[in-house]
Amino acid sequence: MTSITIDGPAGAGKTTVAKALSEKLGYIYFNTGAVYRSIAYCYLVNPFDLTKTIKLKKFLSQINLKIINKNNVQFIWLDNIDITQKLSTPEMDYWSSKISQYKEVREFAVSLQRNFAYHQNIVIEGRDIGSNVLPNAKFKFYLTASVDVRAKRRRKQYLEQGGEYALISYEKILQDIIERDKTDTERAISPLIVPKGAIIINSDRLTILEVVNNMFNICKGG
Ligand code: DC
Repeated sequence: MTSITIDGPAGAGKTTVAKALSEKLGYIYFNTGAVYRSIAYCYLVNPFDLTKTIKLKKFLSQINLKIINKNNVQFIWLDNIDITQKLSTPEMDYWSSKISQYKEVREFAVSLQRNFAYHQNIVIEGRDIGSNVLPNAKFKFYLTASVDVRAKRRRKQYLEQGGEYALISYEKILQDIIERDKTDTERAISPLIVPKGAIIINSDRLTILEVVNNMFNICKGG
């Protein structure tokens, strides 16, 4: 089985690229951020002091998540309810990043991710995939872009989504991205880093198609 990892900061375009690359290769696509988002979703139903380790462990032991890939679209089920649509909100952006700092949360998420990833050809995206979840992956990419470009892309995406998202200003999005970069890169356990052996791609001046073709050619030539 072949694994291709794509790590990088928030808003670098990992999801779009990982999806397109997986389709081009005929591989399964896996967005690992959704696991942290699901944990954050469960947490917000009944928040508690996350530094209370016993409580945190009990909370995690009661979470029953299923990752489902249907026609290369990822769904997350919690206790047989599809929560996929609930996970892509600014609130989940914030809390998934916060909650992912805790060791117990990471162990829970990583174990789930490895179980899902081991038995299939996969393009898997996240923050610690090439460095920690699948360090022996065949190809590792680190996709990045400047903070300004990432914020502009996120703003465009929110405008397209419409509704309350369209009201979020560029400045607010920029601040949120800067804060999330800080939590993701400065956390003590498995922070966002360029994994050993990863190919760095900066997408500031590249289209999605160019990034995907670039990665595809590397995978096919290797
Ligand atoms: O990729 P995303 O924006 O959906 O991820 C949400 C948060 O989850 C991110 O800010 C940090 C955390 N995360 C992580 O710690 N490790 C991963 N492999 C994926 C996501």
